[in-house]
This record gives sequence, structure tokens and C-alpha cells, in this order.
Amino acid sequence: MSEQPAKKAKMDSLETAKSFLQEWEMPEFAKKMKNVPKHRVRLANMDTPIHRWNIPGVPDDFELYVKRDDMTGSTLTGNKIRNLEFLLGDAVVNGNESVVTCGAFTSNHCRTTAVASAQLGLDAHILIRGGGEKVPMRGNLMLSRFSGASLYRVPDTVTDTGFYDRMVQLSNKAKATTGKGMYVIPIGGSSYPGLFGYINCWAEMMNQGILDRFTDIVVTCGTAVTTGALAIANYLTGSKLRVHSFSIKRPMDFIYGYVQESIDLAGLDCKSEDIVSACVDYIGEGYGKNTDVELDFIRNTADTTGIFLDPVYTGKASRGMVEEMKKNPGRYKGKKVLFLHTGGIFSIYTDQRFDGVMTKEGSAADKVMYWTDGEPPMTTILNHEQ
Ligand SMILES: Cc1ncc(COP(=O)(O)O)c(C=O)c1O
Repeated sequence: MSEQPAKKAKMDSLETAKSFLQEWEMPEFAKKMKNVPKHRVRLANMDTPIHRWNIPGVPDDFELYVKRDDMTGSTLTGNKIRNLEFLLGDAVVNGNESVVTCGAFTSNHCRTTAVASAQLGLDAHILIRGGGEKVPMRGNLMLSRFSGASLYRVPDTVTDTGFYDRMVQLSNKAKATTGKGMYVIPIGGSSYPGLFGYINCWAEMMNQGILDRFTDIVVTCGTAVTTGALAIANYLTGSKLRVHSFSIKRPMDFIYGYVQESIDLAGLDCKSEDIVSACVDYIGEGYGKNTDVELDFIRNTADTTGIFLDPVYTGKASRGMVEEMKKNPGRYKGKKVLFLHTGGIFSIYTDQRFDGVMTKEGSAADKVMYWTDGEPPMTTILNHEQ
């Protein structure tokens, strides 16, 4: 007979969460911004390192570095935990005992919300779309489930607005039935408090010398919240770098529109087109879909540098960044480029899409040498069939 799942001990369910809560002071450079959060929960590992990154294809006259935000945590890896520190801080300060968010079944943001909530002792509710009738419990989704989140599969036709409406409905129902608040986090953590994750990160990067060391910073664009924060922070510190945002899904007008909304909410006086350079040329076959060229790029990068990109976000953006260095070097302000690695590693495990890439003839990953007995097979490369 299988054991019953353990029930969470709940005296004051916010006790644990409150122990992670800290007051937050706006970095000096951003003091002009309005509607600033005063708290956050501390969950991410930081400062994350910056180091040289010699990925294949970078032209000789460029120097590429990487900011390792794939190291903000193990199961909390990626950019989203920085935003969630503020969003969950807001949830806790306002007495919510649960949170609801939404995304694709492969969503990094949903996984990060589920894991972070479990660490804080909050209940997480997650609305997902995609993944077919029987959603594969792998990769990010497996971790969300593992960390106790309640999952709600909605029809694929549900739009981002539809997602939001359903979350509000769920939150209202929770309040009506339990009397307790359920905090609503929009898709990708893309509400205003989330922006402060990368305002704060900019202060961290200033301490790491980015204003003097680099001419350009490159980021992957999903909901554009990370893009908006970097663009605003760069603007507030004298626009020393050019901020490049490589979209994996959204069109140009969405990106500039979202960044403009953030600028307006912050009470600043600038135009999004002047503070960010968006590129939509590397979306490829669409959100979550990959060509062989993209998968090869990801494998080559891991193979030659030991850094894993993900197929949905960072793989596409960094490939775009390298292609643009070759084809349109003039779009960069200079030659010292910093790529912000925003994580996403668990998407490698969502399905079998990398299997063909790993076993392709001649790929380094195919170099499995079978050594049954006798001398070490130093030079013999055998394939799996032998
Ligand atoms: C790994 C990864 N990189 C980049 C992004 C894009 O960040 P943003 O939504 O802030 O544009 C996401 C969003 O989900 C992500 O999961």
C-alpha cells in the first residue's frame, strides 16, 4: 500500500515566508523611478559571475563575455527568480498565503514560482497550456509538480488575457472559500514589481565593472520584463552600453510597447526605441520549436565551452547574437559584448529533441568508446550499434 502524501504543517503559514523577507532599498542610480517596492524575499544566489565565453563562430575582433544568471540557483536557476524575489515579497507583505501564475507547459517561470513558493511555504497554483492531451511530466513541469504545485491544464486557445482572467477567477474563488489571499502573478512574472529584479541586478553588474568593461549587453526576450529593466537601468546610468533584446516569440511592436509601459510606470521621460535595440530575426520556426541548426549550436556551445543553453530562449538568442556579429557588426556599439545567460536548462529534458543531435555521425557526443577488455581503445571511435 502506498503511503499518504505528507500534509504540510501549518501553524502560521506565512511564518516561513516572512523569515525570507527583507527590506529593500532602491540603488542610488534608480532613485528617480516611481512606484518602487520596499521589500523582497531573498532566494537567489548572487552575485553571479561574469567571465569570458569563447563560443564557436564569434568573429576574432569581438570579445564575448557571459553573465551567469543560469547560476542563480539549482532548481531556481535563471532570470525569473530575480523578478520573483520582488513579486513574492509583494505577495507576502500583503498577507497572501498562495500564489497563482501561468505559462506554457515548458515554462521556466512556472517552475521557478513553484519551487520558490515551496521554499517559502506558500501554495502555488499554475495554469498551463500546450503539451497535448496528456501533458508530459518532464523538465520544468516535473519540478513544478514535485514541489507540490497544483496544475490546471487550460485549452491551447486561451490567450494571455484569457490566462489572466482565469487567474483572477481562481484567486477570487480562493478568497471566497478560504478567506485567504491568492496573489496573481501575470505570465512570465511580467508585472511592474518584477522589473526590479534586473534593476537590482544592474547595481550588481555595476559593481562588477560593466559600465567600463562592455559596449553592449545582449538578453533574450520573452515577456520583455528583463529587457525593460536592463534598458531602463542602462538609460539611468548614462546609456554607456547598447541593450540588445533578441525575441524568441514576440514581434517588435510588442517589445517596444512593453518597455514603453515600464518607462511610463517608472515616471521616466524617454522613448523605448531609443534605449533598446530589438531583433526578431531568430524566432525561427516559432515559440518552443527548433531547427537542426539551432540544436547543433546549443550542442556545440556545450561541447566547446561547458555552458548549456536552452532550446526555447537562450539558444536562439545567443545564436542570433553571433549571427549578427558576423552579418551586421555595425548594430553593436563596440566589440565588447556581454551575454546575459537567463537559464532554462530543464528544457533540455522536456522531450527527446536532442537525441538525434547527440548521435549524429561525427559529433563529439557520439564518441563513445566501448572497452570490454584488453588495451584502452585510445583511438578507436565506435558507434552505438557496435
Ligand atoms: C530562460 C529564459 N530566458 C529568458 C526569458 C525571457 O525573459 P523575459 O520574460 O523577462 O523577457 C525567459 C522567460 O521565460 C526564460 O525562461
